[in-house]
Amino acid sequence: MEGPFLPMSMKEKKTIFRMFAGHISRGQVKLMRAAHLDFLETQRKGIGFKDAQSQRFIIDCFTSAGCFNVGRGNEEIISAIDEAAKDLDMGSSCLTSHHKLAFAKKLASVTPGDLTRVLFSAGGGEAIDGAIKLARGATGHNEVISMIKAYHGHSGFSLSANGKEYYRHLFEPLMPGFSFVPFGDLDAVRRQASDKTAAIILEPVQGEGGIFVGDDFYLRGLRQLCDDLGIMLIFDEIQTGFGRTGKMFASEHSGVIPDIMAIAKSVSGGLYPTAAVVYRDIPVLVDFVDKNPWFHRCFSGGSDLGCVAASRVLDYFIKNRLWENAERMGVILKEALLQLQRENPKIIREIRGRGLMIGIEYLDEYMGALMADSLSKHGIFAVYSGNQPQVMRFMLPITITREEIERVIVITRAAVATMKVFLPLTEPLAKIPGVRLLLNNIHVQITVFEWIRLFEDLFASFKKSRAGEVRQ
Ligand SMILES: Cc1ncc(COP(=O)(O)O)c(C=O)c1O
Repeated sequence: MEGPFLPMSMKEKKTIFRMFAGHISRGQVKLMRAAHLDFLETQRKGIGFKDAQSQRFIIDCFTSAGCFNVGRGNEEIISAIDEAAKDLDMGSSCLTSHHKLAFAKKLASVTPGDLTRVLFSAGGGEAIDGAIKLARGATGHNEVISMIKAYHGHSGFSLSANGKEYYRHLFEPLMPGFSFVPFGDLDAVRRQASDKTAAIILEPVQGEGGIFVGDDFYLRGLRQLCDDLGIMLIFDEIQTGFGRTGKMFASEHSGVIPDIMAIAKSVSGGLYPTAAVVYRDIPVLVDFVDKNPWFHRCFSGGSDLGCVAASRVLDYFIKNRLWENAERMGVILKEALLQLQRENPKIIREIRGRGLMIGIEYLDEYMGALMADSLSKHGIFAVYSGNQPQVMRFMLPITITREEIERVIVITRAAVATMKVFLPLTEPLAKIPGVRLLLNNIHVQITVFEWIRLFEDLFASFKKSRAGEVRQ
């Protein structure tokens, strides 16, 4: 089916979805189908992929929240991995490795200030675990201040730092010592911080929380507070890193250097999972790691093969100065979206973001689901912010060209027009007390979209059989 890219038949596609539901997740299949996101990725290339059955080219506006900054199926990096795989494997995690060293050195040459020491992990959540453990272990304190609506992953410490109940409530009690304050509110952090605080953790631009940019005053204030109280400042750059916001790392906009930074996703181009904790070369952190070299071990993290891939990815970023492209293309996209907002004040509340990390906030939550559905019909795969459903994220590969960004703009305009068709129905409904809550409820949305999808499929097969009859 994959091989020479033969179109997959509808029957084959249905079988895959049925079996995926049986072996992996029925809920996921239901949700993706309801939202017209039942794609099967094939021919991943540049800014998107082809759907294996329809053979439509789909623009990847989500990029798994910043995994594919170097574009889908980047050939330069694939061939570097191919070549390396002839000789390398994961490597023995306890042995010294020149591949790990080469990557760590290269990484240290692009990270801000004295963020030059590296601890490897396999995934983002685990890197956040490592960052929090490092802060707790090194300071000897255990309180952590995180942000409401923050998203840091699903493992022990990272889940405890997630600022949304939706992810947390099924697993309480989580790690003790975590408290939450509103993102951007420096005074709230000041009130919460004490000499028992080990770390303040945040994303310099909140991603899942709805694309909120931490301003310079706020980030510098946090830095000062941490310096005054001996607290470790942790930046989660898992989404914002590697050119996404128009700089190699988002922290560079404010000039604030965190003590600890977590990276993952695009560090290895979305081609080989790798993640890392990068920390400052300061005695409090270095001494702790030197005394406890195995405090955060992961046999799959920082594998030799992953480090070679990540080195090539870094070369690619630097050679093409991709962060500058993210800045240029981001300005064009943001301006076009602002124009769309001016034309549609009853739909779009705000456009915000930095570089190619842009969010469109709709007036109502249910509009996020409607827009995801409309975009997918028009050939764009976009997903709303997990912790803020009325915000649609635009996080395209930052290799995108001027021509491609213009195409995204045309499609987005068409999708808004499609979405508007539903509004005369939903707007009056949303005014009825209680109905707005129902419209904004994800389970209700899935059921409604499932019915719409069923109706559309029935209508399409009816049309097809009528066309067959006419031909006969
Ligand atoms: C900001 C941020 N932190 C942490 C994570 C968790 O990364 P992973 O899914 O690799 O564990 C994510 C993933 O979306 C993220 O966006």
